[in-house]
Amino acid sequence: MISLTAYKVVHLLGIFLLMTALGGLAIHAANGGVRRESLTRRLVSGTHGIALFLIPLGGFGMLARLGAPAGFGLPGWIWAKLAIWVLLGAVAIVPYRRPQFARAVFVAVPTLALVAAIVALTKPS
Ligand code: HEM
Repeated sequence: MISLTAYKVVHLLGIFLLMTALGGLAIHAANGGVRRESLTRRLVSGTHGIALFLIPLGGFGMLARLGAPAGFGLPGWIWAKLAIWVLLGAVAIVPYRRPQFARAVFVAVPTLALVAAIVALTKPS
């Protein structure tokens, strides 16, 4: 049986990969980089994709170990985290399409991660 700690490590690895991918992407675009000229396009999009897979894998694994109900009866704080996860998935399209917002993405990404962490640690409802 996979332990709570193992799921937590998977969750955290996903978060670290997500921060790395989105940070690199935002900085490249903020410096005038365009997607088609990027030498690390596949590395970054692959890392972003793996991160988006690992985060809910670890998150729902932890939930199962913590004994939370499955399906639509999920606790409210998990819905908040799912919304943040969707945002951190979608935000990857912004820097190259709207380079004027690349710096804002660079700031917003760790801010959203911080909110997700606070939500997990305080579990408001
Ligand atoms: C698919 C959406 C997500 C689910 C289902 C989920 C679920 C969870 C669960 C169950 C915990 C453990 C809470 C506990 O120990 O009592 C947790 C912790 C945490 N989550 Fe998430 N999460 C999700 C998305 C995210 C995202 C997008 C981030 C940040 C980018 C994030 C950051 C964290 C952090 C920093 C912790 C604290 C880990 C620790 O206790 O050391 N989560 N999450």
